[in-house]
Amino acid sequence: MELSWQTILDLEKKYGDSFFILDSKKFENNYQDFLQEFRSIYPRTNLGYSYKTNYIPKICQIVKFMGGYAEVVSQMEYDLAIAIGVSPSRIIFNGPLKPKEDIERAILAGSIVNLDCLEEVEIVKALAQKLPNQKIAVGLRCNFDVGVGRISRFGFDVEGGAIDHVFKVFRELNNCSVQGLHCHISTSTRSIESYTLRTQKIIEFSDYYFKDKQPKFIDVGGGFFGRMNYALKQQFDCYIPNYREYAEAIAPLMRSRFPDDSGPELIIEPGVAVVADVLKFVSKVVGLKTVGSRQLALVVGSIHNVKPTLTEKKLSLLVYRNEETSESKNLNGPVDIVGYTCMEHDCLYKDYPGNIGIGDYVVFENIGAYTVVFKPPFIRPNPPIISYDSILNEYDLIRRRETSQDVFSTYVI
Ligand SMILES: Cc1ncc(COP(=O)(O)O)c(C=O)c1O
Repeated sequence: MELSWQTILDLEKKYGDSFFILDSKKFENNYQDFLQEFRSIYPRTNLGYSYKTNYIPKICQIVKFMGGYAEVVSQMEYDLAIAIGVSPSRIIFNGPLKPKEDIERAILAGSIVNLDCLEEVEIVKALAQKLPNQKIAVGLRCNFDVGVGRISRFGFDVEGGAIDHVFKVFRELNNCSVQGLHCHISTSTRSIESYTLRTQKIIEFSDYYFKDKQPKFIDVGGGFFGRMNYALKQQFDCYIPNYREYAEAIAPLMRSRFPDDSGPELIIEPGVAVVADVLKFVSKVVGLKTVGSRQLALVVGSIHNVKPTLTEKKLSLLVYRNEETSESKNLNGPVDIVGYTCMEHDCLYKDYPGNIGIGDYVVFENIGAYTVVFKPPFIRPNPPIISYDSILNEYDLIRRRETSQDVFSTYVI
């Protein structure tokens, strides 16, 4: 999408002075490219898109259209998948907190439910006993060491043996089986080696627990880096693998263990890897200030819109200069680009080195992951989201600007 100050001004007239822009074609390309790298090595690979990373319904609809799974971690996300027409059998239900009713509903509807703890096993056991004629199948989230120096809180301890008990419980029930193994292990370096190791280990566990049978699926989770520009890459003190390298870390191990076409389905669950670079945030500069040696430009946005996880990293940004600005309403960098909240840390970009002035538009790129879903209703309602169609070169509103009524609608007033 080719933006200019003039095109953003036109968008402002329609959508207001701050908004997100979704590039849906880019999302489609990411989805296809990532999956294709795996399928070229292990054809029975499928992608479960992590809704929580960014559940804009338009994105979830694309996933459905492309044949992917909806990977959800709450009934709220499950409800969204159903609302946009995803078949329950194309939903993977993960997460550490799944209430009894939600588990029962999802299992009976045919979704893949990956259990996380013994309490969930008890819920499934009770369901199987209540419905002896009903065949019930679940997946198990595995917790094991991939050398990250931290003990994860999720899933069943495999190496410590806790998962043995779970297999035993299900073996003793005639109508209940484990259909697959799942893991998702987040690491700060998201390294190729850690993916190789987790795949080796989960295949080993599968061989041990499924013996002469084989699981229906092996799910290695998400946590992959996405595509990013050089400036952003430079800020990580680790190597940023590309899609091909991730596929080469995982898929050949599946291929050599299951060489024919009847091997288990390999499921990958990316969020960041496919969605991070598909969203931009546009915000207008509305104030300038100099305090001692510090120069500040106030924009119609906040750190919560662009980096709610408060990372120290500098986002990639472009400033579109106001073509009608007067020289006096201008600051020469370094300028801190700050937001509307009353928090001192609300600085969207520290030390912007260029010129910036009233009426300029600041566009933050690569902010598609954990932004829209993470923003608190702090001080201002949510800005709208528009979607850009690169084929028609058109913009469409896909989330309207939130109103005060939206924010306060659940309170008793
Ligand atoms: C079970 C599960 N799958 C997939 C993901 C997606 O991770 P990411 O967005 O880092 O790819 C997460 C994120 O925490 C997760 O918990």
